[in-house]
Amino acid sequence: MRLGILGSGAGSNMAAIAEQCASGALPAVVTVVLSDVENAGILTRARDMGLSATFIQPGQYRTKLDEAAEEQFVRVLKEAEVEWVVLAGFMRLIKADFLKHFWHKVINIHPSLLPSFPGLEAWQQALDYGVKFTGCTVHIVDHGIDTGPILGQETVPVLDADTPQSLHARIQEAERRLYPAIIHALAMEDIRIQGRRSFQK
Ligand code: GAR
Repeated sequence: MRLGILGSGAGSNMAAIAEQCASGALPAVVTVVLSDVENAGILTRARDMGLSATFIQPGQYRTKLDEAAEEQFVRVLKEAEVEWVVLAGFMRLIKADFLKHFWHKVINIHPSLLPSFPGLEAWQQALDYGVKFTGCTVHIVDHGIDTGPILGQETVPVLDADTPQSLHARIQEAERRLYPAIIHALAMEDIRIQGRRSFQK
């Protein structure tokens, strides 16, 4: 299974996935890592792992890609013959013109138990709300914000002493388990989607 990974941040999810590909634990290959942030840790980390890593200028908007950037992301992914697009901390919305090229082949990890706390800083939202459990979710990307069919979730406790940083770190530990496990299931064609529901063999 050929993966293209998109991220804007430190790249801990990308590294967890790429390590498992390299060790053979995941029957997949990371063909390209792309970022909208020139100095993002994900690019340095990918290059250190010997992966192809490219910055693409996102254009004039703050929360989405402009048309030219979107075309360039799609072109690079197609040239690399990517089958699944893996969003790993990619902080811009993916719009219909991009999605139509990879419909139901774009997955995302979100740091909460969706549909609770979509959008930014979900760990802070969980603390502010006062929930006792939160977690992370891997889902198919559709036209909404963090709304597509859910493929897997892992719960994480919220502790009394938690700060935003400690809670996010605990969620990220769970992310590094969940994301490779779901990609493994996709590679084995073990996941079937019917409407909003997914079923794992
Ligand atoms: C992860 O915690 C991911 O869930 C979050 O960004 C972080 C990226 O970390 N994504 C979102 O908030 C998307 N809305 P990483 O760069 O170390 O993988």
